[in-house]
Amino acid sequence: MYIGLDIGTSSVKAILLGEDQSLIASATSDLTVERPHPGWSEQDPDSWWRACEIVLDALKTKAPAELAAVKGIGLSGHMHGATLLDSSGQPLRPCILWNDGRSGKQCEELTKAEPKFHSLGGNLVMPGFTAPKLQWVRENEPEIFSKTAMVLLPKDYVRFKLTGEYAGDMSDSAGTLWLDVARRDWSEELLAATGLTRAQMPRLVEGSEASGTLTPDLCSRWGFSAPPVVAGGGGDNAASACGVGAVDPGSAFVSLGTSGVLFVTNDRFSPNVDGAVHAFCHAVPETWHQMGVILSATDSLNWLAGILKKTPGELTQALGRVSGPSAVSFLPYLGGERTPHNDVAIRAGFAGISHETDDNALTHAVVDGVAFALKDCLEALSVAGTKIDRVLAVGGGSRSEAWLEIIASLLNVTVDVPVDGDFGASLGAARLGQAAALGSTDGVFGKPALKTSIEPVPSLTEHYAEAYGRWRKLYPAFKQAGF
Ligand code: XUL
Repeated sequence: MYIGLDIGTSSVKAILLGEDQSLIASATSDLTVERPHPGWSEQDPDSWWRACEIVLDALKTKAPAELAAVKGIGLSGHMHGATLLDSSGQPLRPCILWNDGRSGKQCEELTKAEPKFHSLGGNLVMPGFTAPKLQWVRENEPEIFSKTAMVLLPKDYVRFKLTGEYAGDMSDSAGTLWLDVARRDWSEELLAATGLTRAQMPRLVEGSEASGTLTPDLCSRWGFSAPPVVAGGGGDNAASACGVGAVDPGSAFVSLGTSGVLFVTNDRFSPNVDGAVHAFCHAVPETWHQMGVILSATDSLNWLAGILKKTPGELTQALGRVSGPSAVSFLPYLGGERTPHNDVAIRAGFAGISHETDDNALTHAVVDGVAFALKDCLEALSVAGTKIDRVLAVGGGSRSEAWLEIIASLLNVTVDVPVDGDFGASLGAARLGQAAALGSTDGVFGKPALKTSIEPVPSLTEHYAEAYGRWRKLYPAFKQAGF
């Protein structure tokens, strides 16, 4: 038996898998995000741990005998969050999250000061990443910076609570910008650019390797008969890839979660910094990946649903399948954008609203806007030499087949829909836990059973191509107008 524990932005999910990877039980506990200033996004690290306790207690209630037999636990989590600990392992401040935009100035300065962020780090210095966040803390909260004994990513803080070990995996650690991504090791030069050293970084392991074992106290609390190993695990995107078997070069997925991601596996480190393509290590050895990331995918729909006092599911259900692009356009830049603009200041907007525009028209505009932003990611990847003709769909938004049909038609790709699309990252984490417990990745990362495959609809492809051309003109106009 294996557990996958995914520290998502809006909830912690745990799944319990059998030896054959069948789902035995699952549990979820919600999390909140604090926005203490415009553009900031923070979470209390201990809220992750409380949520982990809730979901593991729930697994114990649902399946105590199976839980007792667990041999491996895998972790995944939202990437890039700066969790700062003092010398006794206590968080010094709330974690600064992946979608926090406060460090724009630090990004510009670090880019000028250390060109190796591009060559070794493989990525533009973007406010989402961890290094510029630490530089912000260094400049704005020097007393906290001086007490920082350890910097962990969100799932690695949970690992510390589970095992007492400071360890991180390659895929998540690549998102700090302190990793020499090709060599899969911390870079002393990149760390020094933000006033840090290797001593403040966790030990590195591969995602499919053991990083430690569960503490004796926790073993007795949840009734494990022998201490399970805790795998390195992965950043949520690399873990999702493991969940859908996208570990062989060329395999790709699209994730419609809080953020939106177009992910492709590579056999080598393949950076393209100009298009704000992310180039990171994968969670399995000797494998890398590229991805385009948009900051507000289902987050855009959640925002609209909040305004309209409905649920996102009600909105997409009322919209149903569409016969063409929306007359209203939406730029999904609620908190700035990463790929392809790397623009922390840009904000979202609707264009083309008329007297006739109703809830459905706004929903249509939002799902189209997210699809157009994913098309931008596809274009950025294609400039980097990567061609994609088939993707698996994961994340909460993949429950809407209408949305996936728009994406299939606009990106001109086949979209495969797994039976349990929204368990991608926790399933991948559980599989990494299995690989660590077995000491081998052989046969662990299979492709999921598919519910359906969605092909591009030719008439939609044609009309959405035109609409994409029009939508592309909005960003420069918004930018010029100072939004
Ligand atoms: C990836 C990214 C997001 C977060 C949250 O670079 O920032 O996908 O991992 O899911």
